[in-house]
Amino acid sequence: MLDLENNFSENKLKVITIDGPAGSGKSSVAKIVAHKLGWIYVTTGAIYRTLALLFHESNMKITDVEHIERFISFISERYRQESSTGRVFIGEREISHEIKSPFVSELSSILAQEDFIRKRLLPIQRKVVLNNSGAVVDGRDMGTVVFPDAPLKIFLTASAEERAERRKKELSQNGQNADIKEILREIHERDERDLNRTLSPLKPAVDAFSLDSTCFSQEDIANKILQLAVQKDLIISREF
Ligand code: DC
Repeated sequence: MLDLENNFSENKLKVITIDGPAGSGKSSVAKIVAHKLGWIYVTTGAIYRTLALLFHESNMKITDVEHIERFISFISERYRQESSTGRVFIGEREISHEIKSPFVSELSSILAQEDFIRKRLLPIQRKVVLNNSGAVVDGRDMGTVVFPDAPLKIFLTASAEERAERRKKELSQNGQNADIKEILREIHERDERDLNRTLSPLKPAVDAFSLDSTCFSQEDIANKILQLAVQKDLIISREF
């Protein structure tokens, strides 16, 4: 067990960003790191997913900007993520499982290509994080766009096959069954969209540390990140 203590000047941003493709393990690793530090954990993909869910339930067209604006305002006021569990709420309604469905995954990736949606979701992501002292935040553009001044940025990858296996396991834990080939196809499709969109494409920040989680446990990667945080003077460690 690490004995960690914050070593922050008042004006230093207490944020660790973890970006990477779907299924690279960033959420699980971010949760472990946040837990060990006593910081909050924020997964920004859940915000895109919440928008996709609202959108899907209302049968709107992507061109209906006025409605999208209304959903985004609604999210801004009512979105809540429970840090300790990662459970997601919109108002009183828990949507943790619905936002993980393959359909919502697909739609969130499509909506994330829209410039005006990304711009409007930017302040919501910052607000969720900056309202707290100390956050580990995962997404696609945390280090490049949302928190360019974060003192520690991680870019986490894993092979597409490994990511598909992990997604299958996650879905079955939620009671959903899916074909591995289909998951792999969706992963390739989403990677393609995330990597090639014009605004905030998925790419490491120039000052990010790239880590490959294919052959490592989540604990190993989390410990590596904690070591980097110590090297960066973001935290101090009395004992490893
Ligand atoms: O991390 P995730 O799989 O839950 O994210 C869902 C979708 O949202 C994903 O296809 C890409 C998009 N996304 C994004 O574009 N930028 C972020 N910061 C987080 C997610």
